[in-house]
Amino acid sequence: MKEKILDYLNKKHDYLSGDQIAKHLGISRQGLWKHIQELKDAGYEIAAVPHLGYRLESCPDRLFVFEVQRNLGTRFIGKKIDYFDSLSSTMDQAMALGMHGAADGSLVLAETQTKGRGRLGRDWLSPKYKGIYLSLVLRPKISPSACPILTLMSAVSICEALKESAGLEAQIKWPNDVLIHGKKAAGILTEMNAETDKVNFVVIGIGLNVNNDKKSLLSHATSLKEETGEELSRVALLQEFLRKVEHNYLHLQDKGAREIIEKWRSFNLTLGTRVKVDYLNKHIEGQAADIDSDGALLIRKDSGLIQKVSSGDVTACR
Ligand code: BTN
Repeated sequence: MKEKILDYLNKKHDYLSGDQIAKHLGISRQGLWKHIQELKDAGYEIAAVPHLGYRLESCPDRLFVFEVQRNLGTRFIGKKIDYFDSLSSTMDQAMALGMHGAADGSLVLAETQTKGRGRLGRDWLSPKYKGIYLSLVLRPKISPSACPILTLMSAVSICEALKESAGLEAQIKWPNDVLIHGKKAAGILTEMNAETDKVNFVVIGIGLNVNNDKKSLLSHATSLKEETGEELSRVALLQEFLRKVEHNYLHLQDKGAREIIEKWRSFNLTLGTRVKVDYLNKHIEGQAADIDSDGALLIRKDSGLIQKVSSGDVTACR
């Protein structure tokens, strides 16, 4: 009901009498008043003037479920959203949901995380109401060994959403760091629950620095606000990301990985450069030659041998 009230207030952009709104939505004046109070408590500024009625003055930038789902237009990604003002980590919540049979495309959102985690045991800073912290439960019909492609697909979807919503040209550092002007704006953590030859579910965790100020960012990191000089709507960005993910995920399952890999190449920052990869206590150095169909990085060592690396930490060599 709240989304309907907001939609109606939004559309009219002027004062609407309580009678008019209540009649339009088929609720009582009393019911309307209760919803308006709840919206005000949630941070919506709604002017109420005797004899004139209500007018929506401003909306808070919160990832409320009804905001994210409003005009989202996806078929299954984000149809079910669990939203938290604060959570230890969206990964734990989404893994638990996956164990309990959550549907393909179920989403967990948190406004802040007290134990946000990154790859390789690192922490993920999650300042409240500044970034987007999400975990998406997917049930892909692909083999466990093909799952790294989902990480690449997610990175591509972030870059596409950044371009579409904010006009930003982002790049991907293999496998899954999204960089703008060489600084990290988003990271992806993929966890999987699988048997030998069957994937039960995969959780894609994404942290995106949106409105973070410089002082709350690590030196190698950036935020969209830092890059554009303006605050961005996290809701709009998240919606665009969810649409891109759905499109790419469906395409991946229907037509295979080729297009995702091609798109990934167009955003890539790693291929063609000399890199060092720390991988399972090994250090591999060479030319980042290509991406395999499963998303692994192919490194041409100085001996000419090609080594395949499916995870690890890449640093550019000078
Ligand atoms: C990385 O670059 O190391 C991956 C970072 C992933 C962070 C996100 S934030 C939402 C989700 N919950 C977590 O605890 N981690 C991921």
